[in-house]
Amino acid sequence: MSDTAFKIRVWDLPTRLFHWTLAALVIGSFVSVKMGNMDWHGRLGYAVLALLLFRLIWGFAGGGYSRFTAFVRGPGSIMAYLRGASHGPGHNPLGALSVLGMLAALLFQASSGLFTNDDIAFEGPLSRHVSSALSSLLTTWHRRNETILIALVVVHVAAIMYYRLRLKQDLISPMLTGDALLPSPYPNSPDNLTMRLRALAIATACAALVAWIITL
Ligand code: HEM
Ligand code: HEM
Repeated sequence: MSDTAFKIRVWDLPTRLFHWTLAALVIGSFVSVKMGNMDWHGRLGYAVLALLLFRLIWGFAGGGYSRFTAFVRGPGSIMAYLRGASHGPGHNPLGALSVLGMLAALLFQASSGLFTNDDIAFEGPLSRHVSSALSSLLTTWHRRNETILIALVVVHVAAIMYYRLRLKQDLISPMLTGDALLPSPYPNSPDNLTMRLRALAIATACAALVAWIITL
């Protein structure tokens, strides 16, 4: 067996920046709400919303392994993966499920936040556009979703650790540097200036959209 390893660009810079900024902002959202700082809780939540919108668009407009078509797989592929079938670079078919779960749960959290109220002094920017019953309902589900979010993130980090410690597979370095060392050659994800400028344009548009929504 050959020891040759091929250095493959798996995660483009926009996806890496997305990931670590998302993780920091989500942790910040939790810390701020627990400290009772609702102004910062709201601001961090708006930033999460803009990031999520960016990632959804990047799943279609980005390249390589960041595209949804590169990692969203049906039950057949997931079962085959569980039976030991190999897969290419990027999210494995099971990991893709957890990625989609986190994106969906966070999207619900950040968008429901817009309609919340804390019964004291804080109101989400869109809460006055809905009935107080709906605002209360969304606030309840916003609070309940906390458990789901924590569970998803714990499973996510535990899975990364399991790969590292048990399967001796380092998934963290590629999410930091972009590159993975793989036993066979695969195409690189495009990560050139054009793609990065495209990502910047999309991210700016998403931030502008969220900034506009909260003024409504
Ligand atoms: C609140 C905390 C976190 C959230 C919400 C989160 C969310 C996500 C999401 C959405 C993805 C998919 C990336 C994409 O395709 O755009 C992902 C992937 C990844 N995350 Fe996190 N993450 C968190 C914390 C962490 C931490 C602490 C680590 C390191 C231990 C980590 C390591 C990774 C790695 C290595 C991947 C790529 C997995 C793969 O190769 O399939 N994440 N994360
Ligand atoms: C990803 C983004 C967000 C996360 C992770 C998040 C997380 C949370 C969590 C965990 C709670 C429950 C706190 C507790 O009961 O101890 C909470 C409550 C709340 N959040 Fe968020 N949130 C986010 C976005 C937002 C946004 C954008 C807004 C509004 C602008 C918002 C407004 C509120 C309000 C009003 C409460 C109720 C506080 C209370 O019960 O007194 N959240 N959020």
